[in-house]
Amino acid sequence: MRARAPCYRSAATETGMRNLTIDAERLWDTLMETAAIGGTPKGGICRLTLTELDRQVRDWFKARAEALGCTVTVDDMGAMFARRPGQRDIPPIAMGSHLDTQPTGGKFDGCLGVLGALEALRTLVEAGYETYAPIEVVNWTNEEGSRFAPAMISSGVFAGAFARDWAAAQKDRAGVSFGEALEAIGYRGAQRCGDHPLTAFFELHIEQGPILEAEGKEIGVVTGVQGMRWYEVTITGQEAHTGATPMRLRRNALVGAARLIERIDAIAHAHAPHAVGTVGLVEVKPNSRNVVPGEVFLAVDLRHPEAAVLDAMEAALTRAIGEVCAPLGLESSSAKIWDNPPVVFDPDCVAAVRRAAEQSGFSHRDMVSGAGHDAAYLARVVPATMIFAPCRGGISHNEAEFTSKEQCAAGAQVLLQAVLDYDRRLAERQGAS
Ligand code: GLV
Ligand code: MN
Ligand code: MN
Repeated sequence: MRARAPCYRSAATETGMRNLTIDAERLWDTLMETAAIGGTPKGGICRLTLTELDRQVRDWFKARAEALGCTVTVDDMGAMFARRPGQRDIPPIAMGSHLDTQPTGGKFDGCLGVLGALEALRTLVEAGYETYAPIEVVNWTNEEGSRFAPAMISSGVFAGAFARDWAAAQKDRAGVSFGEALEAIGYRGAQRCGDHPLTAFFELHIEQGPILEAEGKEIGVVTGVQGMRWYEVTITGQEAHTGATPMRLRRNALVGAARLIERIDAIAHAHAPHAVGTVGLVEVKPNSRNVVPGEVFLAVDLRHPEAAVLDAMEAALTRAIGEVCAPLGLESSSAKIWDNPPVVFDPDCVAAVRRAAEQSGFSHRDMVSGAGHDAAYLARVVPATMIFAPCRGGISHNEAEFTSKEQCAAGAQVLLQAVLDYDRRLAERQGAS
């Protein structure tokens, strides 16, 4: 007969749990240390996914996790999992986010979620605290979607939202595929993406919006993520000489693009207060000052918490493309390349975060995320949720992004306590307490 596993020591009854305090200085030091990998003169980070800089920060993460006694595995989408064993050999409770950034990214988007989780793990290791389930820290690949669209590619494959081969074939604007770039930095792991069962997933992130700061709240308890859709539109006219071509004979693709951008802005305003609509990427061909633009590529991003409103915005976009192009003699093609429906997070995970915020004495409020996150895909396959820390002025995707040392530590503290709360209840459910 198998020996009975040692009885789990309920965290809530342990005075030890109160001593599990995140080291704010140490967390800050790791944030600043890794921010130097791809650091920009304006104080941000440019560390696009699957570049040499991404390789460097991955190596850093692997070394630090191994120094804590973790085993690091990598899947074939490049997602990294650093595991600390628990009392039972069951699927781990995971926490994490991403280490890739926007081209003009800040120091906290994604990084706080991975490094906050690493600090939480370090706190457990130093205290010798044994969890019931194993605990993992995860670094997902290409969360940003800046180099390869769509965003959250590896968590999307993990959750079955994208086919692996399709994801690996996605190309950046220079024609390099995700798979080639992953191979080039040496981070295509052996494990098939998705073949890595988890018990739950918790993601700490900065809010990337102004609500927490405006209300003076320290923690956002995230109950869901709004829906988001990405489209690619190509408008085609005719290249011509700017000096010799009369205005009435032109088919200027950039004029069409400019009018379309205004229409997209108006579509979002027409669905106020929750809708947002953006054209953030425009490529003009041939982009020469004395050639009438012959072709423009636009990337469109529409978001709203309700799918029905997104349907209406999408219909309005389709109408706008036709109405803008026809009178200018322009042709167009468009494709929806990403449809990420609104997400509601797991009530037990959300409750664990709320309790953790209360027990830690932090002011908090429930909120829906405006930004996309890996947790949104994870929620399709495991109980998941998020914790938000405030960011100054609500500014993010910007080198000026800032969350203070104390705010980062508060977020990591709530992350740690939420994971331990979930772990303790899991042990109770499984009759191990
Ligand atoms: C990810 O950063 C997104 O919300 O686009
Ligand atoms: Mn992020
Ligand atoms: Mn981001």
